[in-house]
Amino acid sequence: METIFSGIQPSGIPTIGNYIGAMKQFVDLQNQYQCYFCIVDEHAITVPQNPITLRKQILSLAALYLAIGLDPKKATIFIQSEVSAHAEAAWIVQCNTAIGELERMTQFKDKSQKNGRVGVSAGLLTYPPLMVADIVLYNSNLVPVGDDQKQHLELTRDFVERFNNKYGQNKQAILVMPEVKLAKNGSRIMSLQDPTKKMSKSDDNIKSFISMLDKPEVIRKKIKSAVTDSSGKIEYDPFHKPGISNLLGIFSAVSGRSLNNLEIHYENAGYGEFKTDLSEELVKLLEPIQVRYNQLLSSSELDRILDEGASSAQQIANKTLIRMQNAIGLGRKKKR
Ligand code: AQP
Repeated sequence: METIFSGIQPSGIPTIGNYIGAMKQFVDLQNQYQCYFCIVDEHAITVPQNPITLRKQILSLAALYLAIGLDPKKATIFIQSEVSAHAEAAWIVQCNTAIGELERMTQFKDKSQKNGRVGVSAGLLTYPPLMVADIVLYNSNLVPVGDDQKQHLELTRDFVERFNNKYGQNKQAILVMPEVKLAKNGSRIMSLQDPTKKMSKSDDNIKSFISMLDKPEVIRKKIKSAVTDSSGKIEYDPFHKPGISNLLGIFSAVSGRSLNNLEIHYENAGYGEFKTDLSEELVKLLEPIQVRYNQLLSSSELDRILDEGASSAQQIANKTLIRMQNAIGLGRKKKR
């Protein structure tokens, strides 16, 4: 059975963008693959986090993973910082990656431009190697992510090729080559307030995203105030009509209806009617998730699942780490 790895940062409450681009896929994939779904808290600290809020968000994300339908009997759900092999393998990856490669990463360029290079942590530059480590430790074949993570997957593939060529003996690969798996529909959901910008859970403007824990009245308000255009036509044309096209994309992804079907259905409707229907579709999706989320958060089930997840992830991750350490000559040769 092929293996899947993916993670979400507990850097805020996941948005509908995180859900459509990544989490929704997780639920379907758990039935066909050996899956590892991680709460990547070590990635979240590349930008400042309040410790109390961070810990809350870690548990909140774990509860959301389960609430959307991930089943711990089918998928391993765990917290990154509870499996120490991630940080150890990341060091090996960093030492085998050129600084130039990391400086070219779009996310580093964006965030360091926004905050000034001296004002950002070294972790912001070196977290892509941590992501490489996350992926290779589980011998992952496929990595379901949103479009913004494609560049990190390319970095991972380059690293695997380089590492195997350099350290593999007798052409034996040490690490598995992963492939990116993008959502067919909605791999890049845009901000509701600036549809040229990606929707992000840490956006300062809370009107720019629908959080998975937003209450119905908040969802309705946010969708109502989403930026559109003055033409009044419900057509999918991301270049000329980015706002309404983004809303159509969200509608299509959450309802399962094609863009074409929606365009025909709303041919003679106004933006108001379309937005009301989209809001109700989002409420229909999120309300039951929120009910289950609240039950999980107040139960002891969560701790047990995360303990078991960390211990089973650790077993696989340590094996790969030992393979990497042996290959490059670190320490004394260890038995696998
Ligand atoms: N807008 C989006 N549309 C589709 N997919 C998205 N993802 C993120 N935003 C969108 C996908 O969600 C997964 C988890 O992302 P992450 O939490 O690891 O980091 P991120 O990509 O940086 O997401 P955010 O929401 O923008 O977080 P912050 O604000 O903390 O930087 C990934 O698969 C990602 O592609």
